Amino acid sequence: MNVLIITAHPESDSFNTHLASIAARTFEKQGASVQSVNLYGENFEPREGKSFYPDKQGFERFDPLREQRHHWNRHKLPDDVMRHIFLLKNSDLLLLHFPFWWFGMPAILKGWMDRVFVYGGLYDSTHRHENGVMKGKRALLTVSAGASANACAFNGRDGDMRLMLWPPIHALHYIGYTLLEPYLIHGVRGGLDGSGKEKQQQFLDEKVKDFESRLINISEWPVIPFNRQEDFNDDLTLKPQAPEYSPFVRHSPNRWTPGS
Ligand SMILES: Cc1cc2nc3c(=O)[nH]c(=O)nc-3n(C[C@H](O)[C@H](O)[C@H](O)COP(=O)(O)O)c2cc1C
Repeated sequence: MNVLIITAHPESDSFNTHLASIAARTFEKQGASVQSVNLYGENFEPREGKSFYPDKQGFERFDPLREQRHHWNRHKLPDDVMRHIFLLKNSDLLLLHFPFWWFGMPAILKGWMDRVFVYGGLYDSTHRHENGVMKGKRALLTVSAGASANACAFNGRDGDMRLMLWPPIHALHYIGYTLLEPYLIHGVRGGLDGSGKEKQQQFLDEKVKDFESRLINISEWPVIPFNRQEDFNDDLTLKPQAPEYSPFVRHSPNRWTPGS
């Protein structure tokens, strides 16, 4: 198995980078080939922009989708983007490790998606969702939050963290990945001293062990269900008899009944 681990954290001594290295070690021990990338470590440029497209098609207005497709077709995408696409295509399992920042992923990771998931190359109108370019590959998000599990629960004060991860989950499914249920670690707080710090360390050590054992049995990891193309009408709305898997794609604007 080829595993690609992408980490988005600016500190090489952080909990997130530690967890990513645990994942690498766990898979290597099992004989997998592992590639690890820290987007901060390689100074990845997350801002999409016209300067990346030397072979512009002569239009006044910068059209990112047009330029992405054009440069993909002519093998003229920037080297960093081509390298990341190569890494994605050459792995069977993608792990994304990142801290929950302002109720979502760090900007560098969003920018990585903006630049690397190129139109024409990683998706187009006929290659997406279950027919996506990454069909057959799995992806797992591992995300730490400062807030407690209660605060991040479906009825918690901070809102349902699992739901807030829909954008990266859906983006990965959009290009064809099978998504594993994300691994969430709550209560990873900075600024602690004394007994508070010790207690947190114990909790994190337990989480690391749990994560490790879950990875060893990754074939048993639950998969996130998505509606398939046949669940939608020609106008792309959900058919009345189709199942509801997510509050983002539901039958009624006012309620969501999982599995209905
Ligand atoms: C810019 C920033 C935004 C953050 N936003 C959130 C947030 O929305 N919800 C939350 O629970 N924690 C938030 N946190 C806390 C981080 O999630 C927490 O510090 C991190 O998961 C700890 O992991 P680390 O030790 O690897 O950095 C934020 C931290 C930073 C620096």
